[in-house]
Amino acid sequence: MQHTCSFSTMVEGDLDEVLSIEREVFPHPWSKEFFQLIISDRSNWVITLRRDNTIVGYGGYHLLKKGRTFLSTHDRYQQIIHLINIAVSPPFQNQGFGTRLLDLLFNNAKRSCADYCYLEVRPSNTQAIHFYQRRGFSVIGVIEKYYPYENENAVVMGMGLSGLIQER
Ligand SMILES: CC(C)(COP(=O)(O)OP(=O)(O)OC[C@H]1O[C@@H](n2cnc3c(N)ncnc32)[C@H](O)[C@@H]1OP(=O)(O)O)[C@@H](O)C(=O)NCCC(=O)NCCS
Repeated sequence: MQHTCSFSTMVEGDLDEVLSIEREVFPHPWSKEFFQLIISDRSNWVITLRRDNTIVGYGGYHLLKKGRTFLSTHDRYQQIIHLINIAVSPPFQNQGFGTRLLDLLFNNAKRSCADYCYLEVRPSNTQAIHFYQRRGFSVIGVIEKYYPYENENAVVMGMGLSGLIQER
């Protein structure tokens, strides 16, 4: 059977499906209220990816205000995005959906002239770190005790977007 894939901006009506994935993949999932806040902020671009009619993943970024950055290595970049979330439902992982989400996010960000992306990830999340490294991110720093529940540090990863080819 031929499957169809599509993406759209995340809306309130997606949240029940999104939350069931969120709760499956994260030890401390975002709440419905937090998602509502995130999708109502116009500096964020958050999308869902569907295979046929089922949401298989989602992701989003925050477009930083120019000049607003905490890392000195960002001095040479003009417009930075912060990847705030990305997740794929476990039965659909390792089938290219995460890469597709990242491509969609980067292509949209490049339309806003973004030239750098950074994110935080738990050092224990080796699957995600491997995923990001394979897609061009490298480790640029550590934030101590970033995750409050376990006092776990965050690994900060970043990559330039300028070299990436933009989809038409
Ligand atoms: C990180 C995450 C989003 C990656 O999503 P994903 O859909 O599994 O990613 P992809 O399928 O695109 O890539 C994963 C692997 O599958 C392989 N793959 C891609 N397409 C494939 C296909 N059609 N068939 C088989 N394997 C494939 C890729 O080569 C890749 O391997 P590589 O990283 O060694 O190159 C996912 O693991 C996830 O949701 N994790 C839990 C949430 C999380 O930790 N998010 C990050 C928070 S910082």
